[in-house]
Amino acid sequence: MKLIITPDYDELSRRGAALMADLIASKPDAAVILATGETPMGMYRELAAIRQRSGLDTSRLRVFQLDAYLGLGPDDPRSLYGWMKRSFLDPMQIPDTNVVRLPGDAPDPRAVCAAYEQAVEAAGGIDLSVLGLGPNGHLGFNEPPAEPRSPSRVIDLTEESIESNARYWGGRDRVPRQALTAGMSVLLASRHVLLVASGERKAGILQRALQGPVTPQVPASYLQQAPRLTVIADQDAAALLRRYS
Ligand code: PGA
Repeated sequence: MKLIITPDYDELSRRGAALMADLIASKPDAAVILATGETPMGMYRELAAIRQRSGLDTSRLRVFQLDAYLGLGPDDPRSLYGWMKRSFLDPMQIPDTNVVRLPGDAPDPRAVCAAYEQAVEAAGGIDLSVLGLGPNGHLGFNEPPAEPRSPSRVIDLTEESIESNARYWGGRDRVPRQALTAGMSVLLASRHVLLVASGERKAGILQRALQGPVTPQVPASYLQQAPRLTVIADQDAAALLRRYS
């Protein structure tokens, strides 16, 4: 694991964007899973700025949606696909044909999950998964308890995730109760995982994820076994990590 602790959120965003830009420069058609949520937004803005400045070609990336609320179409203001489109796909000029979605409003969500896994396989696996950290240790919507072999699937959101997502949409009542998520198995098989965590509210769960027991109760703890993991945390999120010397 490579752990980068930054003084603040802006530097976290710059370091994360630089890592993504390096990957894209070396493999312009890389297959990436991208989180929404608040934490990666600064990084995506920085990457868009790098693209503007340097002419980095981001348009060939193959993007896989990480998760979606069940039952919401792409035009619903709470659609996580819509959020990804505004924050990443449009600024990076990625055509829809390069995107594998998890359409939350499809009539057969189980078939959607199976097709998603087939698309990951057809892409030759995922080069980079960009993940945030849930307050309950979830990755995507792999809610605890989550086994490392869990496939992409429909899942009931936990109270903690409903509470945490309420801040995006103006209240708990606005948060759907079920979601589709890329499975733990897909995320853990990624050739590289970038986990970003910011703020003191992530300090306890980041410590448990990186330095606690590996357990289904903290899905992110399985990242300790990932083939290649980079964690970028700002000082507040890293405050409870034990230092080894
Ligand atoms: P956040 O969400 O980046 O908005 O904190 C992370 C998550 O809940 O997975």
